[in-house]
Amino acid sequence: MGVPTPDVDARWLVEAFGDDPQALEAAVARREAREPLQLILGTAAFRYLEIEVRPGVFVPRPETEVLAGLALDRLSAGATAIEPCTGTGAIACSLASEGEPSRVLATDADPAAVELARHNARSWPTVEVHHANLFAGLDTALLGAVDVVVCNPPYLDPSQVAVAEPEVRNHDPWNALVGGESGWEVIADLVAAAPYWLRPGGWVLIEDDPSRVTQTVQALEHHVGPASIEADLTGRPRFAVARRR
Ligand SMILES: C[S@@+](CC[C@H](N)C(=O)[O-])C[C@H]1O[C@@H](n2cnc3c(N)ncnc32)[C@H](O)[C@@H]1O
Repeated sequence: MGVPTPDVDARWLVEAFGDDPQALEAAVARREAREPLQLILGTAAFRYLEIEVRPGVFVPRPETEVLAGLALDRLSAGATAIEPCTGTGAIACSLASEGEPSRVLATDADPAAVELARHNARSWPTVEVHHANLFAGLDTALLGAVDVVVCNPPYLDPSQVAVAEPEVRNHDPWNALVGGESGWEVIADLVAAAPYWLRPGGWVLIEDDPSRVTQTVQALEHHVGPASIEADLTGRPRFAVARRR
């Protein structure tokens, strides 16, 4: 059926449903229909965590594990981080579980994502999840005081979704994928707002489409401070990282 990794997926399904032939058959049929493996299993592996996933909320991806790692490299003990566009809360939970932040504020514009992120973050009292557009309504005492802003925003344009794999096209929510007509509108808002929240020397890290990451770095240089590009697991230019001057 065009599933790119049939062996691996079959192993996961046998592991999860192998005791129940009917359940296994149903799970295989769902995968044949190109439903994402993680939605069938109900969980996604993300760094050291098993994150609950649900239909209607973006499934976290391996490249974003690298983004979380880049943020953790810059997160000292007691730091404050903001993660707009949190989805399942995977990045925020990783910061809390692997680092020692005093506070991680995660936001999402989608109530279903907020509910799931709160559920996934239930073991980490340092994580608070807000239903908000980017930074809207966050504690204004944090203006100019945040150490790290890390974000995997929607960054595709509609034409890219049209040619994406069925797992993406038919299952990830449109507003999790598409960052506006050009694909770059959410990132433009993020880059413009981030410096108001960051302390001098604070970091902003953004996942982006490889075709637009240079544009994001140039905007970060303008609004935030010195910026550079980091590669994903396959060597593609994927992350824009900047330090507030
Ligand atoms: C690409 S998904 C990333 C989710 C998660 N950070 C991850 O890496 O798995 C983007 C998320 O941003 C949310 N979103 C889209 N526009 C937003 C906005 N303006 N403010 C806050 N969240 C937004 C979507 O609901 C979705 O959950």
